[in-house]
Amino acid sequence: MIEEVPVRRLNRRTRGERNKRRERYFIFNDSYNYETESDVLTDEVSPPPTPPSSDNNNLIKNNKKVSAMGHPKTSYASKNSEKKDHLYKILVIGDLGAGKTSIIKRYVHRFFTQHYRATIGVDFALKVLNWDENTLIRLQLWDIAGQERYGNMTRVYYKEAVGAFIVFDVTRVNTFESVAKWKSDLDSKVQLSDGSPIPCVLLANKCDQPKEGLINNSHKMEEYCKENSFTAWFETSAKDNINIDEAAKALVTKILENDTLLNAESSKDEGKFSISKETNAQKNGKMCSC
Ligand code: GTP
Ligand code: MG
Repeated sequence: MIEEVPVRRLNRRTRGERNKRRERYFIFNDSYNYETESDVLTDEVSPPPTPPSSDNNNLIKNNKKVSAMGHPKTSYASKNSEKKDHLYKILVIGDLGAGKTSIIKRYVHRFFTQHYRATIGVDFALKVLNWDENTLIRLQLWDIAGQERYGNMTRVYYKEAVGAFIVFDVTRVNTFESVAKWKSDLDSKVQLSDGSPIPCVLLANKCDQPKEGLINNSHKMEEYCKENSFTAWFETSAKDNINIDEAAKALVTKILENDTLLNAESSKDEGKFSISKETNAQKNGKMCSC
């Protein structure tokens, strides 16, 4: 006797199944990229630079493990003895060919190539900063393809990000015109835990080349950035290594500020919670004794 198989199962996957497959795909990509050891580099922000200890490397492994379990935790701080350890997810977005991948390559690998290969979907890199003698910062950089066809995935990519760079190409004014669109896409899809927009730094890339448009007027650029709530803006060149470290420093400084504020808020809330719990317990105690 021939077993009857429901036709729907043969032809189509349910939405749940499709989502699961998609999730597996991203988890694989995430873990895969973190296995590339060359993606982990230590920066020399403050002397003397100390390479990540074996303990720190464990944290990277732990992070990978967490991601592999499908719960990527991308912003945390652990206080290991005296040293604070932060992991921050940073997005790098902007139009096709603006130089996002080149900026990341320059920042993480200290390397530049004229050869252009469009990013497909998303790529990852990890930058480790010895911020000060008490603070180690890991930046998980999400290099998101500028191609329109990946635009509908941005909500997935932006999840849990705590900072962003929007990159445009100073030689192509249309890439600057898209900046506002990228910014509103970002602000509508990701916020900090208090609902405020995540800090975002604008990068006017390829400043080693002749510039087109508003970028030639720095006063107007300032105004534009204020109106559109950018944390800061920088003229950068991945080719000549101009302002990339400085831009990252500005973004991380803002992220740390937010982190301190939000932590202070949440410990206040915890305080409130424990007081009200105590009051309830006292009330209950009184009720019991009556
Ligand atoms: P997608 O992945 O397609 O979104 O592009 P992208 O934004 O990642 O651009 P990518 O970094 O691949 O750079 C595109 C082209 O611009 C490459 O040929 C780079 O060599 C070149 N480029 C990037 N940054 C600079 C720069 O600062 N100066 C100059 N002159 N060329 C640059
Ligand atoms: Mg790219």
